[in-house]
Amino acid sequence: MTMEKRFYLETFGCQMNVVDSERIVALLEGIGYRQVEAPESADLVLLNTCSIRDKAERKVYGHLGRFKPIKAENPGLIVGVGGCVAQQEGQRLLDKLPYLDLVFGTHNVHKLPDMVRDVEENRARCLETEFLDRDTRLRLFPDRAPGESVSRFVTVMQGCDNFCSYCIVPYVRGREVSRPSAEVLDEVRYLAGQGVREVTLIGQNVNSYGRKEEGEISFAQLLHRVQAIEGIERIRFTTSHPKDLSDELIDCFGALDKLCWHLHLPVQSGSDHILHSMNRGYTRAQYLRIVRRLKEVCPEIRLTSDIIVGFPGESEADFAETLSLMEEVRYADVFSFLYSSRPETAAAKLKDELSPEIKQQRFGRLIALQESSSASIWAADQGQVLEVLVEGESRQGGGQLFGRTTWNRIVNFHGSRDLIGQIVPVRIKRVYKNSHLGDLQIS
Ligand code: SAH
Ligand code: SF4
Ligand code: F3S
Repeated sequence: MTMEKRFYLETFGCQMNVVDSERIVALLEGIGYRQVEAPESADLVLLNTCSIRDKAERKVYGHLGRFKPIKAENPGLIVGVGGCVAQQEGQRLLDKLPYLDLVFGTHNVHKLPDMVRDVEENRARCLETEFLDRDTRLRLFPDRAPGESVSRFVTVMQGCDNFCSYCIVPYVRGREVSRPSAEVLDEVRYLAGQGVREVTLIGQNVNSYGRKEEGEISFAQLLHRVQAIEGIERIRFTTSHPKDLSDELIDCFGALDKLCWHLHLPVQSGSDHILHSMNRGYTRAQYLRIVRRLKEVCPEIRLTSDIIVGFPGESEADFAETLSLMEEVRYADVFSFLYSSRPETAAAKLKDELSPEIKQQRFGRLIALQESSSASIWAADQGQVLEVLVEGESRQGGGQLFGRTTWNRIVNFHGSRDLIGQIVPVRIKRVYKNSHLGDLQIS
C-alpha cells in the first residue's frame, strides 16, 4: 500500500485566489495528495497569498513563520508560497526564508505538480514566476474543479490593464485577457448539471469583458446567454469598474430576472481631484449618474462599494466629498481601507503628507456613517418574506441552514437539509449586523 500524502492549504485575498486554490486542490489530488485541516499533520503546506495592502503582505510572513517550528520537527515537510506575494517577491522570499521550498506565481499554478515532485525527489528549491503570453494563458484557463457548492465562481477574465495609481494588481496578475465566451458558457452549463444554482462571474473588471478580443460578445450579451442556461437560478458578477459600466449592462438589471439585485461598484473616493489622481477614469458626477440609472432600471437594487481613506493629497474637503457621496448613494455596505503604498505603483511616488492620526480619524468617521446607513437599509428587511437560496448548514450550528437573499445577505433559519439548493421563502425576524435570522415559510 502506498502512503497517502497530505497537504494543507490556506487562501488569502480575492475571488481570483479562491478559484486558483480550487485548482491547486484538484492538481494536488491528481498527484496523490489529500487535503487536511492542520499544518502539523501535513507533508506539504501552501499559502496562496494576497499583496493588495502592506498589511496583507505582512500577514504572509506571519503565517509562514508558523511553519518554521513544524518543519524543524519534520524536516521532510515541503513549504510553498503561491499567489500575489509570491509573484511580487519571487526569489526574495527564498532568500529570506531558508525553510521555504517552492514559490509559484499567479501564472504558474499549473506547474505546481512538477515543482512538488522536484522537491520530493531532489530536495530542490523551486521558483516559477514567469508571466505567460496571452495564448498560453487562454489555453491554461482554470479547469473546472468539481465541488458540491450551490454557488460557484466562474472566471471570465484574468489580469487588469487599468493601472489605478494605488493598485498592485496589474503588476502581480499581468495583462487583461478574456476567456472565450463559448468556454465560459460551457463551464456554466457543466456546473448547472452538477447542481450549481448560482454563478458569480469574476474578474478584476468584468465590465470590459471581451473588448480586446476580436469578434467577442460584450459582457452584457454574456449575461443574457447565462440567463438562458437551464438550472441556473441566480447570476452575480464582480468586480465592476464604473468607467466601463455600459448602458447595455445597466439595462440587464431590468431585463434579466436571474440577475441579483445587488451590484458591487467601488467608487474609491467622492472627490474629482482624488479620482483623477487615482487614475480611475470617471468623475463623481458620472458615477452618480450611473447610480441614478441603475435605480431607475431596478428600484430594488442595493449597492456596495470599496473606499480608500487617506490617499496622498486627500484634503478635508476631498474627504467630505466622499462622505457626501456616501450619503447620496446610500450603500448597503462599504469596504473601507486605509491607503497603503505599494511597490511599483504610480501613487507610491506621490507625497503622502497626512499624519496617521488624521487618516485614522477619517477612517473612523467613514465607518460610523456607513454603519448607520447600512443599519437603516438592512432594517427594512425586518418582517419581510424574502426568497433565500439555501446553500448549506449554518456555521451557527443547532441544525440551522443558511442561504442568501438576492442582496447577498446571509439568512440563518431552521429547516431540513433537503432544502439545500432550493430557493425558499423565509420571514426575517431578526436583523443583525452581518446577517439575518428568519423563519421558513413552508412546512
Ligand atoms: N478590481 C477591483 C478591486 C481590486 S482590490 C476593482 O477595481 O474594484 C479591492 C480593493 O482594495 C480596491 O477596490 C481598493 O479599494 C482596495 N485597494 C487596492 N489597492 C489599495 C491600496 N494600495 N491601499 C488601500 N486600499 C487598496
Ligand atoms: Fe486594481 Fe484598478 Fe485593476 Fe481594480 S481596476 S484591480 S483597483 S488597477
Ligand atoms: Fe490580493 Fe492578488 Fe486578489 S493582490 S486582491 S489576491 S489579485
